[in-house]
Amino acid sequence: MSTILVTGGTGYVGSHTAVMLLEAGHEVIIVDNLANSSDTVVSRIEELGGKKIIFYQTDVRDVEALQQVFSRHYIDAVVHFAALKAVAESVANPLLYYNVNVGGTVALCEAMLKAEVSKLVYSSSATIYGVPKKVPLAEDDSESSMAVFNPYGRTKVICEALLRDICAADPSWSVALLRYFNPIGAHPSGLLGEDPVGVPNNIMPNLTRAAMGQITHFSVFGDDYPTEDGTPVRDYLHVQDLSEGHVKALDYLMNKTGIEAFNLGNGKGYSVLEVIAAFEQASGQVVPTKMEARRPGDVAISCADPSKAKTILGWQTKRSIGEMCADAWRWQQMNPHGYQR
Ligand code: NAD
Ligand code: WQD
Repeated sequence: MSTILVTGGTGYVGSHTAVMLLEAGHEVIIVDNLANSSDTVVSRIEELGGKKIIFYQTDVRDVEALQQVFSRHYIDAVVHFAALKAVAESVANPLLYYNVNVGGTVALCEAMLKAEVSKLVYSSSATIYGVPKKVPLAEDDSESSMAVFNPYGRTKVICEALLRDICAADPSWSVALLRYFNPIGAHPSGLLGEDPVGVPNNIMPNLTRAAMGQITHFSVFGDDYPTEDGTPVRDYLHVQDLSEGHVKALDYLMNKTGIEAFNLGNGKGYSVLEVIAAFEQASGQVVPTKMEARRPGDVAISCADPSKAKTILGWQTKRSIGEMCADAWRWQQMNPHGYQR
């Protein structure tokens, strides 16, 4: 049993991971400034995990506040989710993204260094691969990927480099860079799910909202890609599978130093039309759709080679696209307006 500090732990991936950490017997301390989440998530995590957690409404850029958290609690390891993640917003307001995503990671590492906590799981992203030269993508394929095309993606590249530099300077550090592909779905209880502030960008919140009639239709962004049905292909994975990956990564870090990157994906891609079909089957709803122009910055195909995570972490996805859609639909029906922050 360990005590894990989870930054961004009331967010989408963080909240599911916090429950899994409690279920695995760990103590959980969350730091989140609620920029994209709600404090109602705290009691839901406790209900699902069957245990109390400690919550600090704190900005991860606030080194002094973080130092107080580290001095108040004996923390074994950190899972760092806290970041901003809207690609279009990062293009419009790059400084904010560098400030929060890079500045937040720098502040966290400073506080960890002072507290002599040196185990970290970092939320990276498949976005760091830029335009894939080949699929599936293996971890080494990032070496030629400096052509990441948006500020959000570049903050992830920079944070990966920052963490590599820290590990090179101090061999007692131990870091797992987890490169998520496309997490969708929700907790099967319907109590936790994805609740983005403002107009959602991602596929699943738009699908569930179109199915509920909250938006008139689902816009399919382009059907002229070089894929089987013309719509882009992505490696979707259930957020519960993704969360399990964090528990496995923490186990791995406990007896290890150095830094390793892992793709967390299922290794199989689905087109937008295939996701719509799976969603309609899982929900029993017909989703009104409209074919529209390509969305700038979208690539045709992104798909993981997840074999390194399987070999080294003993992790692989277990949940089907049908479960991802059914759980997302349950979440949307039980929480038609999200957490109502
Ligand atoms: P999310 O927005 O739901 O969660 C992020 C959490 O961080 C939120 O609760 C937010 O309030 C908090 N936060 C933001 N700024 C903060 C700050 N300055 N101080 C403290 N807390 C702050 O996003 P998510 O989907 O759960 O993503 C978690 C992490 O995974 C992020 O780092 C994201 O970049 C990364 N990621 C997400 C995806 C995805 O598709 N969801 C894919 C790849 C990587
Ligand atoms: C998936 C597919 C769209 C919405 C983004 C970030 C990436 C990562 C995950 C954090 C694409 C299509 C979508 C809609 C559509 N996040 N789509 N209509 O773009 O693969 O990745 O989230 O790191 O950095 O870029 O995910 O869910 O936005 O889109 O047709 O209303 O669904 O064109 O093909 P994406 P997504």
